Amino acid sequence: MKKEIIHPIKALTGGLELPGDKSISHRYAMFSALAEGTSELRNFAAAHDCHSTLGCMKALGAEVSVDGTTVKVTGRGLHGLKSSWRTLDAENSGTTIRLLSGILSGQQFTTRITGDASLQKRPMKRVVTPLRQMGADIRAKDENFPPLEIHGGKLRAIHYEMPMASAQVKSAVLLAGLYAEGETSVTEPAKTRDHTELALEEFGVTLQKRGNTISIQGHPSANGKSPLQARSLDVPGDISSAVFFIAAASLLPESNLFLGNVGLNPTRSAILDLFQSMGADVTVVNLLSKQGEVVGDLAVKGASLKGGVIEGDLIPLLIDELPMLAALGPYTEQGIEIRDAQELRVKESDRISALAENLKKMGATVEERPDGLRVAGRSAGKLHGAEIDPRGDHRIAMAFAVAGLAATGETTILDADCAGVSYPTFFSELRRLSEA
Ligand code: S3P
Repeated sequence: MKKEIIHPIKALTGGLELPGDKSISHRYAMFSALAEGTSELRNFAAAHDCHSTLGCMKALGAEVSVDGTTVKVTGRGLHGLKSSWRTLDAENSGTTIRLLSGILSGQQFTTRITGDASLQKRPMKRVVTPLRQMGADIRAKDENFPPLEIHGGKLRAIHYEMPMASAQVKSAVLLAGLYAEGETSVTEPAKTRDHTELALEEFGVTLQKRGNTISIQGHPSANGKSPLQARSLDVPGDISSAVFFIAAASLLPESNLFLGNVGLNPTRSAILDLFQSMGADVTVVNLLSKQGEVVGDLAVKGASLKGGVIEGDLIPLLIDELPMLAALGPYTEQGIEIRDAQELRVKESDRISALAENLKKMGATVEERPDGLRVAGRSAGKLHGAEIDPRGDHRIAMAFAVAGLAATGETTILDADCAGVSYPTFFSELRRLSEA
């Protein structure tokens, strides 16, 4: 397991292109496999998670070829997937197992799907419950955990009032709805990322959207043409990966960073508004709309950050950015307080606990709470380097690498390779842009 040593630096300068968005890549890979024809997906995520999805789609009969960041997928049509003789492996990826559960519920065969030790501890009841209501027969370890055994079959449409704001749950139900008899609809308690809706539309499926309710018409019969057709698509850069660099550049007063081709879908870009409201010097340039998604370039300079409270309906819109925000807390004027984010406890690690433990190791003043944490600001003292255990969680590893750039002394990130789950070249890009 590789360690990375982080030394304090003066600035981040230069230009960076982000790897393709992880959420969008998962969906394009899955929907290409359900489409008729060959799709070409450019700037496909380097993230290991998205390659786990490609592996699963291949095992289910899609043809997949990878050439750098261009992926070609020849789909089998909505009703053309084949059963896999082996257990599918979603590895570390919650999106893979939860979205695929929806698709697999509509197949005329049984699939077993599991993942790594972290994924085997993550709750699946949230997708199993609505999928069972639709008629799928799903077995889960202790009724909640992978491995899942999904006996697909005939599904009925439901209207599902989601008890939690989760894009993965919304997507699983809508994807099962593609196979159900009638119209399936999902109402979310608060807005979550809408890449499933946008990508389905891009592949040719019609959806109805009214407020927080999304409806989809089922295609239960294998007769006729697949409602999904192959597409040629560019994946925007991943804003959730960009955030580590936006944060690092903001922390270091002499920074001047340019981030090209960043996905700025409004259900993902709340982080930019938040940074700006905290005083960050982030400018959006060259905004354009590409295949349903919004893309732009960002210019970031060093600034003094105010900090503040993050809570309520903002939480699902910032869910993957919360580790970075918490780790910035000690560098802000007022500190950072995160509330209503109990969901962080069931991500790739218990992120609330991992953040509190590692921040304390660096000398921060932290109050850990069931649904979040409060991290004291600059007046509580400067952070010092420490040995960081990211608990195998990519976003914890990257957040503390950034925190280490402005601390005193050396910060060691243990098991730093885990960053590859979303951003395999993170540490080499960080070194390239660093000015000592
Ligand atoms: C994702 C949704 C979010 C997010 C995850 C990716 C997606 O999870 O944390 O990294 O691609 O749909 P939840 O929907 O469980 O909040």
